[in-house]
Amino acid sequence: MVKILKHLGIFCILMLIAITSAQQTEFLYDDFSKAGNTILLEGSAKLFNHDNIIQLTNTSSRMIGHAFYATPIKFKSSPNGTVSSFSTVFTLGTVPEFKTLGGHGMAFVISPSNNLNTALPSQYLGLFNAANIGNISDHVFAVEFDTVKDFEFQDIDDNHIGINLNSLVSNFSVPATYVMENSTKQNVSMKAGHTIQSWVDYDATNKLISVTISPLPTKPRIPLISYKYDLSQILEQEMYVGFSASTGLLASSHYVLGWSFNMSGPAKSLSMPPLPHPPSTSSNKHKATVAIASSISVSVFIFLVICGVIYMVVRIRDREIIEDWELTVGPHRYRYHELREATRGFREKELLGRGGFGRVYKGCLQKCNTQIAVKRINHESKQGLPEFVAEIASIGRLRHRNLVQLLGWGRRRGDLLLVYDYMPYGSLDKYLFDQDRAGYILSWEQRFRIVKGVASGLLYLHEGWEKVVIHRDIKASNVLLDGEFNGRLGDFGLARLHDHGADLGTTRVVGTLGYLAPELSRTGHVTTSSDVFACGALLLEVVCGRRPIEPRFTSEEELVLVDWVWSKWNQGKVMEVIDPKIKGKHDEKEVLMVLKLGLMCSSDEPRYRPSMRQVVRYLDGEMELPEVLRAPNPDDEKRVLKTSEPRIEDYVYSFGTSSSGVSLQSYSTGRGASVSPNTI
Ligand SMILES: *[C@@H]1O[C@H](CO)[C@@H](O)[C@H](O)[C@H]1NC(C)=O
Ligand SMILES: *[C@@H]1O[C@H](CO)[C@@H](O)[C@H](O)[C@H]1NC(C)=O
Ligand SMILES: *[C@@H]1O[C@H](CO)[C@@H](O)[C@H](O)[C@H]1NC(C)=O
Ligand SMILES: *[C@@H]1O[C@H](CO)[C@@H](O)[C@H](O)[C@H]1NC(C)=O
Ligand SMILES: *[C@@H]1O[C@H](CO)[C@@H](O)[C@H](O)[C@H]1NC(C)=O
Ligand SMILES: *[C@@H]1O[C@H](CO)[C@@H](O)[C@H](O)[C@H]1NC(C)=O
Ligand SMILES: *[C@@H]1O[C@H](CO)[C@@H](O)[C@H](O)[C@H]1NC(C)=O
Repeated sequence: MVKILKHLGIFCILMLIAITSAQQTEFLYDDFSKAGNTILLEGSAKLFNHDNIIQLTNTSSRMIGHAFYATPIKFKSSPNGTVSSFSTVFTLGTVPEFKTLGGHGMAFVISPSNNLNTALPSQYLGLFNAANIGNISDHVFAVEFDTVKDFEFQDIDDNHIGINLNSLVSNFSVPATYVMENSTKQNVSMKAGHTIQSWVDYDATNKLISVTISPLPTKPRIPLISYKYDLSQILEQEMYVGFSASTGLLASSHYVLGWSFNMSGPAKSLSMPPLPHPPSTSSNKHKATVAIASSISVSVFIFLVICGVIYMVVRIRDREIIEDWELTVGPHRYRYHELREATRGFREKELLGRGGFGRVYKGCLQKCNTQIAVKRINHESKQGLPEFVAEIASIGRLRHRNLVQLLGWGRRRGDLLLVYDYMPYGSLDKYLFDQDRAGYILSWEQRFRIVKGVASGLLYLHEGWEKVVIHRDIKASNVLLDGEFNGRLGDFGLARLHDHGADLGTTRVVGTLGYLAPELSRTGHVTTSSDVFACGALLLEVVCGRRPIEPRFTSEEELVLVDWVWSKWNQGKVMEVIDPKIKGKHDEKEVLMVLKLGLMCSSDEPRYRPSMRQVVRYLDGEMELPEVLRAPNPDDEKRVLKTSEPRIEDYVYSFGTSSSGVSLQSYSTGRGASVSPNTI
């Protein structure tokens, strides 16, 4: 009897296993706290918020996060069969780092593998890489929730949902909207930080894929996307289902809050918890500052104690080791102790500033006859140092009155020291954004001269030398002012240091948000045109006295300078953007020219930006600027081309440069859109 019961027990267990494995075709997670190992998390994906939800990425840049249902799903009854119907519902949300600048989006994915470790972040959404994208042997079906408009993949806007088959060029995509009960269409902003519910259904009889979204728990009756396609060509018999998200230069936290999947009927809808929002940054920052300050003071103390002990030893042993290669490189090589003396031992009091690459100290040589600035760069590894120094050395041969002259260099172990001409008035940003600290207002004449100087310095880097030198980090804080308030570019060529320091195989985009050309985040490919973009941002800043992105312009939104200037331009009120500090004392014609040029350089499309040579010729008045400007953001242009009924705000405006003021003229759509500043 006992034996029979025991057998029965085993039989029941076997049955249960059989049933569960046969019913692998449905599951529901209203939250993920009990998911255990039924969900596979990869990359940056982790459980979050008391393990209730999945965070695919946080706001660090260039991350990939995947979450897959651990067991493969049987989509076909035989390898050559047809795909059965399925239905899935998930709640998702995106909380961007900067309110209106999201990146890069997420996707629901059905893939033959749960391991996409060769995929790339940024625009590739963690799904593909440059080699396998578009290959029919990928067998990847994805529904993308994309918050970046990517030209490479012909995205329609920066808030769309698309059906992707083996590719990131969507086979079908629409802006994110839903139809309300009373049949009105409503926009859904995926970057607004609200929870969105999404239904993806495949109807096997009609071969119809439908996607529906809503910010509300109930499913809208009319789907957002109905796309007729037989998935049998894409899906294999057994596939993994899951989610993928990635970040690029701009980053968002991407969340999956709940998920249900069903092959035997419609998947159940889910509850809609709110998204976790980042804790208020001010208190965070404060805590961080306290923590950093206390840890610094502790470590400084320990450091001092250790220094005291080591000092004597080092004094005896402190002979400079010069390696062979160092004797072969070009400009003056200073001895370390010479520079240490010049800066009084790199004293805090002599600190002029700190930048992305290191600290800059003031110093003087030859009994204080020559004032210098010494940049101290800590290069963690010695690897690549000879190459880098050689490069610095060759760059040190560059001579131009609008470049900060490199006088020489020095080195001790990982410390690289670069010696520059001393610039008594410091950097331009201080005067533009912080005039209280500068205690001096730059007049329009001075600003115009600085702009011209910077442009000709940059032209020299791009064209005036045997090699093309791309600056890569043009910004107001890298423009220094000499004794006569001439603008001089500093830090040229230094951006490459990052490359030498980085691991092989990763190309890091360096630069500063707001000055980075949009194509950099897509391709990482640095060109002279990306310098021109940054130069455009600088031109606008000099006129407006504002930063390219002002984080808290109103309580709601950051201000993107280019967009603001362009909208004022379109309203015919461009004179309102001028820095109040110089208003009334400016030369209207010059101001207009610089603004126009700034807008031209800020075009999202590299081919519409002028070259540095053209910029200099415009600034010198050798060339007239085109009458008609292209919108910096080509979105506006697409609208121009698409509109059948001309509306006044869709036109490309031309702008009179006469000092009589502002004159707006409408332009015929076709012509307006085809005029390129480069052709004039
Ligand atoms: C994001 O997560 C990674 C680890 O996955 C961590 O190193 C990084 O500090 C996080 N970034 C932010 C902004 O929280
Ligand atoms: C499935 O199709 C492939 C080629 O399309 C063929 O080689 C194979 O024999 C088919 N298998 C069955 C079970 O029909
Ligand atoms: C597609 O991928 C397969 C397998 O990885 C490879 O053999 C083939 O060359 C690829 N095709 C193209 C056009 O890249
Ligand atoms: C659509 O999907 C198919 C995959 O079957 C692909 O070959 C095609 O290039 C895709 N793209 C577009 C834009 O139709
Ligand atoms: C539909 O409802 C929304 C709010 O629920 C309202 O704003 C909108 O005007 C309504 N549309 C129509 C056509 O009634
Ligand atoms: C919805 O978004 C489209 C562009 O995607 C825009 O043209 C339209 O004005 C928006 N509608 C509302 C009501 O915000
Ligand atoms: C799947 O569909 C069946 C039939 O409609 C339903 O009984 C079941 O509750 C559904 N399961 C889930 C997880 O949605």
